Amino acid sequence: MKELEEEIKKCRKCRLWKSRKNAVPGEGNYNADLMLVGEAPGKTEDEMARPFVGKAGQLLTEILEKNGIRRKDVYITNVVKCRPPNNRNPMKDEIEKCLPYLKKQLEIIKPKVILTLGNFATQTILPLYGFKAENISKIRGKVFDSPLHGIKILPTYHPAACIYAPWLKEKFENDIKKVLELI
Ligand code: URA
Ligand code: SF4
Repeated sequence: MKELEEEIKKCRKCRLWKSRKNAVPGEGNYNADLMLVGEAPGKTEDEMARPFVGKAGQLLTEILEKNGIRRKDVYITNVVKCRPPNNRNPMKDEIEKCLPYLKKQLEIIKPKVILTLGNFATQTILPLYGFKAENISKIRGKVFDSPLHGIKILPTYHPAACIYAPWLKEKFENDIKKVLELI
């Protein structure tokens, strides 16, 4: 994993390397039962080379810790490892170029549960395990169980959505509690 993280830091496979300050490979426990996957680094993450450390990240961390999940026990990463300019959505070709890194991380960690944060992560990860990716608003909180892969996937909101729309926070926290039951 260390080697892979170093490779990501030097990667120039898609255009996003040009505008990044730092690639953000991910961080946490390499033997984690739980992996959290977001969309792409934001401004603070790009500056600090760490995932989910900006405003949305602070909310995520707060809700995790409140429910007894320590950041250092899980692995946190994103679908795309470099920040898109002005936080625009990642483009299809950028996701394709970057996806082998996420797949490798999944192979190394072999998590029991993946919590996908927001629509991008959900749409990217579900098809990897043979599930049809429907919109997050339709499937959030639903457990996708693949005994074949020994994995359960739980799509939830992106924590940034819970900042713009605080009424989503309760459901978000319920999903975090559900994750605890799953692992
Ligand atoms: N939003 C994301 O999707 N990922 C981060 O790392 C930070 C904010
Ligand atoms: Fe490489 Fe991914 Fe960064 Fe693109 S986003 S440069 S593929 S690490």
